[in-house]
Amino acid sequence: MTRDGALRPAVVVVGGSRGIGRAIAKVAAREHAVVVLVARSPDGLAAAATDVKEAGGEPLTFELDLLAVDASARLQDFLAANDLVCDVLVNSAGYGLRGAATTLARDDQLGIIDLNIRALSDMTLRFLPGMVARGRGGVLNLGSIAGFTPGPGMAFYYASKAFVRSFSQALHQELRGTGVTVTCVAPGPVATEFLERSGADRAALFKILPKLDSHYVAERAWRGFKSGRRLVVPGISAKLVAVAATLLPSALLLPLIGRLQRRSGDPCLCGSGKTFKECCGNRHARRRPGTLTE
Ligand SMILES: NC(=O)c1ccc[n+]([C@@H]2O[C@H](COP(=O)([O-])OP(=O)(O)OC[C@H]3O[C@@H](n4cnc5c(N)ncnc54)[C@H](OP(=O)(O)O)[C@@H]3O)[C@@H](O)[C@H]2O)c1
Repeated sequence: MTRDGALRPAVVVVGGSRGIGRAIAKVAAREHAVVVLVARSPDGLAAAATDVKEAGGEPLTFELDLLAVDASARLQDFLAANDLVCDVLVNSAGYGLRGAATTLARDDQLGIIDLNIRALSDMTLRFLPGMVARGRGGVLNLGSIAGFTPGPGMAFYYASKAFVRSFSQALHQELRGTGVTVTCVAPGPVATEFLERSGADRAALFKILPKLDSHYVAERAWRGFKSGRRLVVPGISAKLVAVAATLLPSALLLPLIGRLQRRSGDPCLCGSGKTFKECCGNRHARRRPGTLTE
């Protein structure tokens, strides 16, 4: 609490234990902010807290599984117990899965909706009204260039990021004149654990595109957020992809993305248990709807 009894403003980084969230926390810490790092892994949180301290900020860590239904309420209680209010919310937690939707585990795919969409929305709705009442602060949401197009081969992930972009931009407009801002940052591939965990690193698309450094993305994201930008697309290659995804006809774009995100070793869509190459190869693409046999 400050000397006059007011609660202290904090930058809350959800998904701050590694990757882009951890890098954004470090950038925010340069402004001597109180930075609350939120994630599940104690080791990751401790390492990120050291970064924040070294950069001049005051770190606090909170272990939280965002998939818990009461996650945002628990975070709010934690802040209140430490005499803090959420002044800036960074929603960086998220995951993706590469593979055809019919071959990936159902629960893992639904988890993408729970984390990338539901938890992000829950956190935003929990803390945004307080920011509006105080007339300051804002939300920085991690979208992706994946949010500019449907993504065959990573269908749930691309769809979740389309939600983040749409939701963030709509809020940005709604909040005009309130002193509160919402920014969506939409990077292309970034060199973090995300790429390996999602399996995206094995797809041609992610091999072709250059991988950005998480600190570069964090700097761009923070600067864009501070200047009240609605959307930040860091790097030239990501900007080109975003423009191409907007301009190219779907009939061209979707087969291209599908092909670049599939590997011949992927399981076949027909459920034979064989790989795509060993089994149906390219025949699915040529079959007409409703045709059961060749
Ligand atoms: N890397 C890329 O190529 C890339 C490109 C564009 C957009 N993005 C987006 O940027 C964001 C950050 O990605 P990243 O590359 O930094 O990924 P990352 O290195 O895998 O980090 C993900 C963060 O989310 C946290 N997290 C995951 N599940 C959680 C849960 N259930 N509860 C609490 N925390 C959870 C992780 O912490 P714990 O595991 O400790 O809980 C970690 O701090 C994501 O939304 C991603 O979609 C990434």
